[in-house]
Amino acid sequence: MNYEIYRFDKIESTNSYLLKLADEGFPEGSVVVADEQSGGRGRFGRKWESEPLSNLLFSVLLRPAFLERDEVFVLTFSAAVAVAEALEDVTRVKPELKWPNDVLLGSKKVCGILLESVFSSDELSSVVLGVGLNVNQKSFPAEISARATSLLAQTGKKFDRDEILSAVLGRFGSIYETVRARDFYSVMKRWRDRSGMFGRKIRLRLADETYEGVCDEITDEGAIVIQTESGLKKFTAGEVSIIGETA
Ligand code: BTN
Repeated sequence: MNYEIYRFDKIESTNSYLLKLADEGFPEGSVVVADEQSGGRGRFGRKWESEPLSNLLFSVLLRPAFLERDEVFVLTFSAAVAVAEALEDVTRVKPELKWPNDVLLGSKKVCGILLESVFSSDELSSVVLGVGLNVNQKSFPAEISARATSLLAQTGKKFDRDEILSAVLGRFGSIYETVRARDFYSVMKRWRDRSGMFGRKIRLRLADETYEGVCDEITDEGAIVIQTESGLKKFTAGEVSIIGETA
């Protein structure tokens, strides 16, 4: 992938900005990076808070015309794998992955991923892949400190944000070729090999229901299968927490 990087001191949201560039016809590989966001967005309409100049906040524009609507999920898992592998390359930490796209260190979230897809007349025209990776933030606001962490908090060391950005983009570029070759199985295997969820007791929240059970499987289609009291149940969306842990 040929990346073209656009850098900002402060921006509302790298995802929102890149969605505009996508609409203006910017090519695949356009990347927006910011030191600070005034309106960073997370999953489920939440805010993404990040201390200025401390972390990595970036979005990558993809134009995966080779994917069908129900195959976009694989990009979420690809991004999580790319982040985990890049972190291990640069910092030697061993992150764990939590379904569907959180990257954890010491059972806390070190990175969140927000994928936004744009369809025009039912064709996938672009995907914006947003990454919020906590690098050098020392401490977190009380509301999230039990669930959030950074590389600095976990290792006691500061890291060069640009070095991590290049490593993530490099790893992502190569896994994207695996996706292009339609080898979804390899992507999901790499994801599963880094997940500590299997056999763990989890809680899955949907808009108005909650399920508890043991994580049985993450399928090649990216669904989670839970062994509940009333049998195996499969979900393609929801928010998962590992019971007894914070993230
Ligand atoms: C999550 O809720 O876990 C996803 C968080 C994604 C945050 C990143 S920060 C860079 C990009 N721009 C945004 O507004 N959100 C994503």
